[in-house]
Amino acid sequence: MVEKNKANDRQVLIKVEHLVKHFPIKSGFLQPKKAVHAVENVSFEIFKGETLGLVGESGCGKTTLGRTVIRLYEPTSGRITYDGEVIFDSETKTAVPMKPYREKMQMIFQDPSASLDPRMTVGEIIGEALDIHHKTKNKEERKEKVKELLGIVGLNTEHANRFPHEFSGGQQQRVGIARALAVNPEFIVCDEPISALDVSIQAQVINMMEDLQDKLGLTYLFIAHDISVVRHISDRIGVMYLGGMVELAESYELCSKPLHPYTQSLLAAVPIPDPELTRSRSRMAMTGEIPSPINPPSGCRFHTRCQHCSEICKMESPELREVEKGHFVACHLFHKD
Ligand SMILES: Nc1ncnc2c1ncn2[C@@H]1O[C@H](COP(=O)(O)OP(=O)(O)OP(=O)(O)O)[C@@H](O)[C@H]1O
Ligand SMILES: [Mg+2]
Repeated sequence: MVEKNKANDRQVLIKVEHLVKHFPIKSGFLQPKKAVHAVENVSFEIFKGETLGLVGESGCGKTTLGRTVIRLYEPTSGRITYDGEVIFDSETKTAVPMKPYREKMQMIFQDPSASLDPRMTVGEIIGEALDIHHKTKNKEERKEKVKELLGIVGLNTEHANRFPHEFSGGQQQRVGIARALAVNPEFIVCDEPISALDVSIQAQVINMMEDLQDKLGLTYLFIAHDISVVRHISDRIGVMYLGGMVELAESYELCSKPLHPYTQSLLAAVPIPDPELTRSRSRMAMTGEIPSPINPPSGCRFHTRCQHCSEICKMESPELREVEKGHFVACHLFHKD
């Protein structure tokens, strides 16, 4: 097996600095303004050609982060650089027009049936993406390109006239992928692309996505609830908790040597066949409810559920720091100075 070490090339495609996304909540007259703190001060890089996995519990802000990075949601503050160009910077009030970037950055959605218009044939769905970005010159060329895209994602090229409901879930997701590929993107945010699929076909879709990545030189931000889904396909994995990035490391390193207490408890929830290891890991299980992102805890956001919580954790929010080469963690336990 070829070891995944694409991240070693270290050519940065996307740089995210202190990214914040709040969703304001309507409040009554003279009542204090409130907001959902969906993404809070997140900084990381995505290297060209890599798959960066993004995991964390439901509601921790994965989708919001993915959408904000490609500016489907406008950031509240922070800075985003794409391939050396600053596309958003709240400090300098930079917000470049996204039209030229839209075709470089695409998104694949969790629920393929909901993301495909049921009244359009798959040929029209893929063709529409081609039209928006003026990718073909005439009808004939468009038809050929649709066929080619269906072929690339392993669908019958003669099925362009069928409607989404005539396809299985896995096939629908392939249509969603073909639509994303129609514009020759460089970067794709894959938002839980296999969670809605039957377990038996999840591997097929994942394998296809990996093949496409190699063939087309794609970069993925691959979102999943479950670390076991992304551990094999990701070069690196980022772990989110309540809007923040708590740990980021190479996939193997993160799974074999998790540092953040939250990552340890996430991994403790992954079934492993060794009873000895299971026993030792179960002690790291988390207690308590996930706090509200409307009124997040002070200091480290994980302190209310952390067994290692000390005074500083309640007061100071730890930043994500590189504590070993390529291994970043946001936890006072590892910030000794
Ligand atoms: N458009 C929106 N308006 C207001 N609040 C939102 C919006 N989108 C997300 N949120 C809130 O932001 C927080 C993060 O949501 P998000 O969908 O990003 O989480 P997630 O990690 O993708 O969860 P899941 O694993 O369930 O998909 C949640 O509290 C959610 O309710
Ligand atoms: Mg989500």
